[in-house]
Amino acid sequence: FKALSAIKREDVITGDPHNNVSDYIYQRLGINLHQRPDHPLGILKNVIGDYFDSKFGNSSFKRFDDIHPIVSTFENFDSVLVPKDHISRSVNDTYYVNADSVLRCHTSAHQHEKLKGGEKQFLVTGDVYRRDTIDATHFPVFHQMEGVRVFDAAELNSDHLSEVEVVSKELKETLEGLAQHLFGEVEMRWVDAYFPFTEPSYELEIFFNGEWLEVLGCGVMQQSILEDSGNAGKKAWAFGLGLERLAMVLFDIPDIRLFWSDDPRFSNQFKAQMFRAGGVGMKKFKSYSKYPPCLKDVSFWLPEKVTNFTENNLCELVRGVAGNLVEEVKLIDEFHNSKTGKTSNCFRIVYRSMERSLTDEEVNELQDSVRTKMVEELGVTLR
Ligand code: PHE
Repeated sequence: FKALSAIKREDVITGDPHNNVSDYIYQRLGINLHQRPDHPLGILKNVIGDYFDSKFGNSSFKRFDDIHPIVSTFENFDSVLVPKDHISRSVNDTYYVNADSVLRCHTSAHQHEKLKGGEKQFLVTGDVYRRDTIDATHFPVFHQMEGVRVFDAAELNSDHLSEVEVVSKELKETLEGLAQHLFGEVEMRWVDAYFPFTEPSYELEIFFNGEWLEVLGCGVMQQSILEDSGNAGKKAWAFGLGLERLAMVLFDIPDIRLFWSDDPRFSNQFKAQMFRAGGVGMKKFKSYSKYPPCLKDVSFWLPEKVTNFTENNLCELVRGVAGNLVEEVKLIDEFHNSKTGKTSNCFRIVYRSMERSLTDEEVNELQDSVRTKMVEELGVTLR
């Protein structure tokens, strides 16, 4: 896929001391997979939008899906009450364009502005960016959909429920209804959660491929967010869901990298009209044969002094060298030598292409380059 809109490289890779956006990430900006009606993410976005129409009335939730992904740290963090010392603000977790702007790490970054603009019920879909580890369900760019609904005073009246209970109840019913609309009889459970911007907060998990998968976060909006946006005295709910996670369950897509593949064996299997409520009779993705993986282990001593070495930095480095050819990076051994005080790690890097068999030579070349860069950029000592 090629980026459609021209976001200039120098506006993203700025040379600012805070800047930590790689070329690999830059090249994802403006691709907007969620805007393609026949792409699984676009299909899911529209199906969810339609569910809200059917539940709350046509066009009662306004849809936004082309808000620019570079936002201020105010929008991304402060406006939704993320504490100053929260780890999500670190350069290890978030892509900074400069000290005051980031690639949004969640669509919640747009709550404040939309509320301030007078919106009362809306859905925001967009690409979001997080520095993270690498495996079949994690990719540094993914897509979220945010939903917000502000209640009128009259809607909060109840004989037996508090205002917060009225809002929570509708929120949970709405999202359970959504999960049922998408999956039919899937096993799901609510888990108490913490988000700075909601109280109480919950997560919805779905049982998929033998494990519980977190698919969305939600809760009753903190009062101060409503106050700061011209909605003093009102109440609201908000949720944010990961489109990839849901699409992987809905269509049985085994690897998150497939969303970025322009292999027709993938894309030809998806059509805007294919969705069937509750999954009844809906065609699932048919995996085409996977090419063999190539495993490479790298063992090294961690630097002894203050260091650049973090798992996220290692993953970013590997991604920079191998792009989409890396499937997983995992720590397989760690030990501490109490005599020398040194710590050793061994990481396994799984290389695999979605499109072809990799040759030994090319994988060795990638691995050599990873090893060299680990010494140069992360300060480790290879063993
Ligand atoms: N922004 C949260 C996340 O990215 C999801 C969320 C949105 C939670 C809105 C509560 C309310 O995980």
